[in-house]
Amino acid sequence: AVERTLSIIKPDAVAKNVIGEIYSRFEKEGLKIVAAKMLHLSRAQAEEFYAVHKARPFFNDLVSFMITGPVMAQVLEGENAIAKNREIMGATNPKEAAPGTIRADFAVSIDENAVHGSDGPETAAQEIAFFFKENELCPRTR
Ligand code: CMP
Repeated sequence: AVERTLSIIKPDAVAKNVIGEIYSRFEKEGLKIVAAKMLHLSRAQAEEFYAVHKARPFFNDLVSFMITGPVMAQVLEGENAIAKNREIMGATNPKEAAPGTIRADFAVSIDENAVHGSDGPETAAQEIAFFFKENELCPRTR
């Protein structure tokens, strides 16, 4: 089925100037960008976005990293978009990411791992709503 998923290009990858290279990978795999914005998250916003990880030992480092610079947030649309985006990203830990994936090619550590992608339909809906209003999404019918 056609799905939508939320993708974030994290501050490390924005700083490396590889937004375009990462977008190319989405496009080559048939994922369409139907919304996008660059923003510098506040600490409160980053804490809210990652609230599900609040109890994890890496939570504070994760939030601190996510506010070190601007991020690029986008909604990707396409057949099986949630799983497809996760395939293109590679494993959370770049040391375990398959060759040719975004994290294998652009990430240095599990903390600074270049991209985020929603992990299921419910989180995708929540995460898209966190960044975008309904009228900021541009469905692709052609
Ligand atoms: P992300 O997909 O954005 O979701 C949570 C982030 O926490 C994850 O990517 C990693 O960058 C970071 N993180 C740091 N340590 C861990 C860990 N041990 N397990 C999972 N995520 C971690």
